[in-house]
Amino acid sequence: MPKTIKALTNRAFFLYKDMIQAQITGVGAYAPDDVITNADLEKMMDTSDEWIMTRVGIKERRILKGEGEGTSVLASKAVQILLEKTKTKPEEVDVIICGTATPDYQIPSTATLIAEACGIKNSMAFDMQAACSGFLFGLEIGSNFIKSGKYKKVIVIGGDKMTSITNYEDRTTAPLFGDVAGAVMLEPTEEDYGIKDTILHTDGMGIPYLHLHGGGSAYPTSVETIEKNMHYLFQDGRVVFKHAVSKMADVSAEIMERNHLTKDDVDWLVPHQANLRIIDATANRMGISRDKVMINIQKYGNSSAGTIPMCLYEWEDKLKKGDNIILAAFGAGFTWGAVYLKWAYDGKKDK
Ligand code: ACO
Repeated sequence: MPKTIKALTNRAFFLYKDMIQAQITGVGAYAPDDVITNADLEKMMDTSDEWIMTRVGIKERRILKGEGEGTSVLASKAVQILLEKTKTKPEEVDVIICGTATPDYQIPSTATLIAEACGIKNSMAFDMQAACSGFLFGLEIGSNFIKSGKYKKVIVIGGDKMTSITNYEDRTTAPLFGDVAGAVMLEPTEEDYGIKDTILHTDGMGIPYLHLHGGGSAYPTSVETIEKNMHYLFQDGRVVFKHAVSKMADVSAEIMERNHLTKDDVDWLVPHQANLRIIDATANRMGISRDKVMINIQKYGNSSAGTIPMCLYEWEDKLKKGDNIILAAFGAGFTWGAVYLKWAYDGKKDK
């Protein structure tokens, strides 16, 4: 190719790249059928429906029970729904990013298992760990793959089988968690839709207050790690609550401010579902009324990276093209952040 044509082609590519945004073109999600109710928990430990409802806002949560079934089982079902709804053939998928803190195995990645289960053979597939902020971090990575101009169909998954790391002898964490996964398709657009802004943070000061130390390279599984319950999630709820309330609210207000969005401009807040009181504090700080906030914590509890895509899936039929949506999350690390996006289509896509 002559040098001038090559230079012009390169320039055109870079101009095009500047115009590309990553839009969500579909959403899928899956929750297993088995349920643990507050009444079930009352039989297992010293707790009550009244305490759980007033302190957290959870009525029941889902549990994936099948032996040998991990997060990939939940996520593969979500991705299969997504492929059908977006009429995407498995061979068209370029990238799969799976945000999870509960991988099926250490090796290979959960994204690899999902690709295999869904017949996706040609994509780059990998896991990404940012705990409850996993879906938001995944959206940032996925949207930059799209903006590079090289990738056309990127699946971002958030999913966790939290019951696999929950200690049912610890009443301070057992009522909180459940199993859910969700997935979105990201595709390029030159129109004014898609992911407009992101603010994402990590601060390791949270490590002592929310962690699972056993089974990794520092403390490989041993009789001792099991005796010390190091294979379960540890949380100092009060400390985590204090940081979650302020950081999720601050970052949501900040993303509104820097995008010149008033409370009336925001059509939906999609908060991570860890505690109804944290959700309310975030909405109050943004000046958003409850009817604009997606809340399903009462049905599913905290499924970590799965909560936000599950909300998008359940509210999809109410969403309109051009809706301004703020996603906000807080999780272990600490990790936290907010994403501002303009929704790209009306209503629910055919299944
Ligand atoms: N049933 C009855 N009583 C209970 C229970 C229970 N299940 N659990 C704790 N209590 C008791 C405590 O023992 C304590 O009693 P005491 O005062 O006699 O000591 C009392 O209730 C209050 O306990 P707190 O821990 O102060 O309760 P709090 O109001 O903080 O609620 C909760 C606890 C729900 C965990 C809250 O702190 C919280 O939501 N924290 C943040 C969770 C979060 O956002 N996590 C981040 C995401 S998770 C991730 O990334 C994996």
